[in-house]
Amino acid sequence: MIFGRVKPLDAILATAERKSLHRTLGAFQLTLFGIGCVIGTGIFVLTSAGAQKAGPGLMLAFAIAGAICIVAALCYAEIAAMIPVSGSAYTYTYATMGELLAWTVGWALVLEYAVAASAVCVGWSGYFTGTILSKTFGIDLPVWLSSAPLSLGGKPGGLINLPAMLIAGLVTWLLMIGTTESARVNAVLVAIKVTALTAFVVLTLPSDQFEAARFNPFLPAGVFGGFGTGVGAVGAAATIFFAYVGFDAVSTAAEETKNPQRNVPIGLIGSLLFCTVFYILVAAGAIGTVGGQPIMGPNGVPFPAGSEELARQCALPAYREALVCSNEALAHVLRQIGWSKVGNMLGYAAGFALPSVILILMFGQTRIFFVMARDGLLPEKLSAVHPKWKTPYIMTAITGAVVAFGAAFFPVGRLADWANAGTLYAFMMVAICVMILRRTAPNAQRSFRTPALWLVGPATIGGTIFLFFNLDLASILVFTGWAAVGIVAYFAYGRRSSHLGRGLVEVHEIDADIPEMPAAKPPLL
Ligand code: ALA
Repeated sequence: MIFGRVKPLDAILATAERKSLHRTLGAFQLTLFGIGCVIGTGIFVLTSAGAQKAGPGLMLAFAIAGAICIVAALCYAEIAAMIPVSGSAYTYTYATMGELLAWTVGWALVLEYAVAASAVCVGWSGYFTGTILSKTFGIDLPVWLSSAPLSLGGKPGGLINLPAMLIAGLVTWLLMIGTTESARVNAVLVAIKVTALTAFVVLTLPSDQFEAARFNPFLPAGVFGGFGTGVGAVGAAATIFFAYVGFDAVSTAAEETKNPQRNVPIGLIGSLLFCTVFYILVAAGAIGTVGGQPIMGPNGVPFPAGSEELARQCALPAYREALVCSNEALAHVLRQIGWSKVGNMLGYAAGFALPSVILILMFGQTRIFFVMARDGLLPEKLSAVHPKWKTPYIMTAITGAVVAFGAAFFPVGRLADWANAGTLYAFMMVAICVMILRRTAPNAQRSFRTPALWLVGPATIGGTIFLFFNLDLASILVFTGWAAVGIVAYFAYGRRSSHLGRGLVEVHEIDADIPEMPAAKPPLL
């Protein structure tokens, strides 16, 4: 039976029980951890793509995406506290809906982690080439070395995004030699990012260049641009959803949290609310000062973000300074309103802090692969641990190669949309898992129960499906193609080699063979 291979919950919980629980994280540390994972390319870079899709309606887009993430976070909180083992959405699905669907989730998580990491690499590259190389050292990297090819959505004359590729290589190397980020480093990076965004808000909102008229029309492409069009406020929400990706890492720390019933929801909701409010203020500051109306196509609909047509328009002198064309949106705004030095400092902050988001995402990817290999769904050789570095170096190298390839040849907006497609699928599956488990395992211990699950669960499922179909058609097709390849791979390899399929139900002593999530080491804080 295709859906028959369900991993026994008891075996998974037994693994969890053997894990030594150090309940040391408090609400504040958890919130900091969430903010550290979340703030990145989404707000620093995709603000441009979001404005191209929705104009000032970008503010509404941030609110919509934030609200959907908050209900998804409530579901994550319950299941992460209940099944505190590695593998996140993949493991939860294995225990509730079986191996095939778990495989599809694992496959989709490649988009959430590896492809998202590529997107952040490209976002970083914009600030690196703009602020660090050009504004600081006067080195203007030729377009062919700093952009994806035009045919793939890059700039005219683009060939390869070398800085994005190099940062992917550097982070891969750091991960291979065993670098993780301590809580202290995380706290410093959060402080840098939050200071940069605060400076942005403080300098733009009260600025004398702030004009309410720039918010008119507020919704130049409407609220709902139509399924598969990727425009309008909801289309922008589907893209800038990326700005919230990563909060689920908080749920992976549930097992290490003191009083998780109280602190996990505070950490999840707290970090998401904080980011949502911040993002809306930042969007208001950017649009109010330099304007954020989209560049319209001949039919009165915005040119698709990341499209060849838009890239050609942006190369025209008339649009060179437009927010929607900038690779380093926030620094660009500050420069435009006369705060060049602060703009550069914001660029340094992004250049300094974004690699840690890449590190966390790539780390998450290797962790998921590791668990899948341990279940026999991927070749076990891939999870070989390096004798000296003690890291799954082969898997890390493969992940790094994939991330570097994506970063080199695709624009940030496209990568983010693909990552979102995978993430939305995973969020939806988590909500379904939580609802199923309430029925199938009503008495299992739950240190956190999602409030009003009958409402929050369907809201998550409906919200994620709705956002998914508001991505542009190309991204929906990329996801579908990726899922199809995944299903073929499952029947060609995973199904035969699966440990569960071969009758092996394993209880792992502890998950200690997998490195702990970075920043979940509170004593350092
Ligand atoms: N939310 C993360 C970012 O925006 C992935 O970079």
